[in-house]
Parts: sequence; C-alpha cells; structure tokens
Amino acid sequence: MSKIKKRNVIVGQSGGPTAAINSSLAGVFRTAKDRGYAKVYGMIHGIQGFMEGRYVDLSEHIQTGLDAELLKRTPSAYLGSCRYKLPNINEDKELYEKIFKMLDELEIDCFIYIGGNDSMDTIKKLSDYAIISGSEIRFVGCPKTIDNDLALTDHTPGYGSAAKYIGTSVKEIIRDGWSLETAHGQVVIVEIMGRNAGWLTGASVLAKSEDCDGPDAIYLPEIPFDVNAFVDKCKELLKTKASIVMCVSEGIRTAEGKYVSEMTEGVEYVDAFGHKQLTGTATYLSTVVAKEIGCKTRAIELSTLQRAASHCASRIDILEAYEVGGAAMKAADEGDSGKMVVFKRLSDDPYQAGTEVKDVHKIANDERLVPREWITKDGTYVTSEFVTYVRPLIQGDVAPIMVDGIPRHLYVKGFQELL
Ligand code: F6P
Repeated sequence: MSKIKKRNVIVGQSGGPTAAINSSLAGVFRTAKDRGYAKVYGMIHGIQGFMEGRYVDLSEHIQTGLDAELLKRTPSAYLGSCRYKLPNINEDKELYEKIFKMLDELEIDCFIYIGGNDSMDTIKKLSDYAIISGSEIRFVGCPKTIDNDLALTDHTPGYGSAAKYIGTSVKEIIRDGWSLETAHGQVVIVEIMGRNAGWLTGASVLAKSEDCDGPDAIYLPEIPFDVNAFVDKCKELLKTKASIVMCVSEGIRTAEGKYVSEMTEGVEYVDAFGHKQLTGTATYLSTVVAKEIGCKTRAIELSTLQRAASHCASRIDILEAYEVGGAAMKAADEGDSGKMVVFKRLSDDPYQAGTEVKDVHKIANDERLVPREWITKDGTYVTSEFVTYVRPLIQGDVAPIMVDGIPRHLYVKGFQELL
C-alpha cells in the first residue's frame, strides 16, 4: 500500500524488558524517519498506558545521533512496558472503538509493537479489528524476549545478550568456587529465567571452554524434575569435586506439574498475562541439599540482572534488534498488517540470518521449547547442537558509553510526570 502523504507512526514496548529492546525502538524510529513519516509517537507503558492517553513524541526525546547510540545501549524498556492483555473483540467492542478513535486522532498509519508471545496477541487483535472496521492502519509486531520462546523465528532479540551474560556469570561463579578450601564440599545452585522454555538455562553451557569445565549439571523446564535425583546427583559429583555448580531453570516442575518454586513459602504473584512469578527455586533446592548432604550451599538467582546487563551485551544481538525494528517499520510502511518479523538462519558458521514476516496469528500465545534432541538423554545437560545454535548469537561486544566510570543510559525526561 503506498500513500501519497505519510502521516504518523506509533510504537510501544511490552512484556519483560531486555538489554536489546531499546535498540529495536531505535531501529523503528530511524526507519520511520527515513521513510518520510512526520511523527513517531511512543506509548508510555505499552497499550495499557496508551489507552489512558499516555504517549510522547519521540522526536522531542531522541534528537541526536548520540541519543540514538545511547538508546541502543540502554537496558530495560525506555518507554516503559506493560503486561496487559486486550479483551477479545466481541467482549468489549467499545474499547476497540476507543483505541481506534485515539489512533485516528493522532493520524496514525503504522502501529509497531515490540514484544513477546503474549504481546503479539495485541497485534493479532488490533489487526483483526482493523479488518472488521475497515481501518487502514497497519499493525506489525517486532519480536523481543530473553526467553527465546517465540514460534516461527530462529531466535529473538534480547536472547543473545542474556545468554552471553549467563555464560559469563556462570563461568565467574565456577571460577570463584575453584579458589575455596571446601573440606565438606560446596554446592552452588544458579537459578535462571525463561519460564517454561530452557533456552536461557541451556546457555549456561557457554561457560564451558578451554579454561573451564562448565556447569556440572543443567536442568531445563522441558524435562520433569525430581528433587531426590537432584540431591543424588550432587552427592555423586561431590565425590570427585570440592565445589560444584548446578544450573536450574526457574520453571522446573515435577512430573505432576508442580513448579519447584512453589514448594517454598513465598511469592504467589500472578501477572496480567496469567503467569505465576517463578522465584525461589535455587533457594528451595539449596535448603534441601544442605539438609540432606550437610555441605555448604549457595543459591544465586540471576533474576533481572540477566536481562538488564547491557555492559555484557552481544553485538550481534544489539545489531539484529535494530534490524528487526527497521524491518517491522518497513513491513508496515509497505502495507503488511497482522504480521511479525522473524529471523531465518542461513548458516551457523559463518553466522548468517535474514528477516521475513510471518502471520502473527501463528505466533501469538504460543511457546517454542528446546527440542528434546538438544537435551542429553539423562536430562541433565544440553548437547553440542544447542551450543552450535546459541554460540553465534553471543558474538561481539558493544562498548557502553561510560561517564564517571559507569555506563550512561538514555531516559525519557519527565517520565515520572507521565505516569
Ligand atoms: O518474559 C521474560 C521474563 O524475563 C521471564 O523469563 C520471567 O519469568 C519473567 O519475565 C519475569 O517477569 P517479572 O520481572 O515481571 O517478574
């Protein structure tokens, strides 16, 4: 669809933040400007904030090349994020009428949403409503999630940087354990995000290198977890090593489907997408190990550090995040709607990948798990195929812009007043 006069674009960020999501925002902004759009609006806190009338004109905030470079290096969601699910169209038609009226008032031609599988539900519903209502606004999704669990794409921006941080941190944890005199042994349990998909936890294998044995075991949520078998494995490993490092996903569950994180007293928080907060898995397991084995234990929850560590970002990831932002904007400009940009890998070594667009209806609300054949038979490690897959995604570095010894970030001035 080519329009004579291009009007405006609106972009939002949704779901869990990453170290690369702002690079996608920079890519959307640059491409919209290069393609002749007048204004690029940014929703504050995604569709939820937009419905409350909260948005900014991004040109007032990203004014120079330096701003854009800072934005690419800034973790978290610059515009603020949300975990909000739109109701089905037939449940609240008025809400859709309101959203489209607001979009029309802002003279929006293209709506870009940067998010994961739950966030793509927003693109799906809004693009469906555009067809029903005869609106010409194009709705396109830009992939993002450290969990790497989006369907139909080789990988998602945000994953490479989180994987690099996890591989690096696990290696440093292992190195720390080397130095200790641990007569009775030490078990370090590292808890890694990813919900029901083991892509992030599997990335702990990257610690394994010429100078490091790597983690002693890796437990992905794709495989039912047995607490007793875990304790036995620790006992076995401690026979030959003073300090062992066990990497576990936050989402490991028993054969009955109970999250290990639910075995401990603690958080019962459920977000608007209906996901339970998974936390405390390592703490619970370290208590059990300490009790059963009587050795020193440590529980390390990488928590938000793994998605905010832009000082350890992957260059490939930051560049690709920028590229998909541009590709999403280009797709919308050229008339696509109800689509999401995906990566298609062309080769592992040398690494090459291109972008395509796919139907968002086949992506929204789905979860792509680690294939069973990329996990060892006994379910306690990942295979060389996993390593071949993840290694290219963590290559290269992005130097932070340091001020007074600390990385500088870009932030929306007056953000608090917009809440
Ligand atoms: O969806 C990405 C993710 O980082 C998951 O891996 C994790 O379970 C979740 O977000 C945590 O979200 P929150 O910080 O909102 O608790």
